[in-house]
Amino acid sequence: MHQPENQPAGIEIALWQYSKHEGDWNRWMQSLSPDERERAATYLFDRDRASFVAGRYLLRRLLSMETGTPPAKLLLSPDNHGKLRREGHERPQFSLANADGLVAAAVASGCDHLGIDCERADTEIEAAAVDSYCSADERRWLAELPASERGRAAVALWTLKESHLKALGVGLREDPRNVAFSWKDGIPVMVDGSDRDRRWHHRLVESSSQHVVALAVCSQTGFPGISTRLFQDDSMPSE
Ligand SMILES: CC(C)(COP(=O)(O)OP(=O)(O)OC[C@H]1O[C@@H](n2cnc3c(N)ncnc32)[C@H](O)[C@@H]1OP(=O)(O)O)[C@@H](O)C(=O)NCCC(=O)NCCS
Repeated sequence: MHQPENQPAGIEIALWQYSKHEGDWNRWMQSLSPDERERAATYLFDRDRASFVAGRYLLRRLLSMETGTPPAKLLLSPDNHGKLRREGHERPQFSLANADGLVAAAVASGCDHLGIDCERADTEIEAAAVDSYCSADERRWLAELPASERGRAAVALWTLKESHLKALGVGLREDPRNVAFSWKDGIPVMVDGSDRDRRWHHRLVESSSQHVVALAVCSQTGFPGISTRLFQDDSMPSE
């Protein structure tokens, strides 16, 4: 999947529907840091361990391509709010998300903030939950949609908001209702009061019908362009 937008690609996105073989997870683990391997061992469920290991493996592979540092040698640690940082380096910016069989990672050198989020498109969101993260205008927009489109649209709004809050590094400590979106020519536009902050760009990234993937980027020099690919683990066959 490739999505040029008339500019040189500034943001690399990798999406991965990773393998369900435990042998593969153990191999990916070799590219992780001792801290990450320790965290992987604490998961009660294989499903959660696989998702964590796959996410960190994908992120390390992507960062390695961008920086030239081997995946296992990258020094990554979370800040006080959980946002991963590369020790001693402000660039490239990067972000990671996991959702039920899919991991998504984004890396970019030429932007100030970057956030990615993914969710299953068929996630059921109850009306009370919609009220807890949508602004009044967003709720009106959802209510006017045909019922068959409303569920996916509610997931898209959630995913866009989370990508933005991850780009800022605050996550859900910030009220998602404070990050509101409208749509212009099918593209999400963040509305801040009556103004629009033109440094911020948001996109729903085409993936599969099963997942919704959203990207938030803050760039002083306009929209950097996106290259999206489906990651293939070429490090070794699964058997
Ligand atoms: C950011 C947050 C919304 C992610 O929620 P989620 O749906 O569970 O997870 P996602 O799959 O979307 O993303 C997971 C990744 O987000 C990243 N992340 C975690 N906290 C983050 C933050 N504050 N900002 C940006 N990214 C963050 C991590 O890389 C994480 O990957 P990991 O599990 O391999 O460490 C949620 O963790 C949050 O609100 N955190 C902030 C609250 C806080 O301060 N908690 C204390 C943590 S020490």
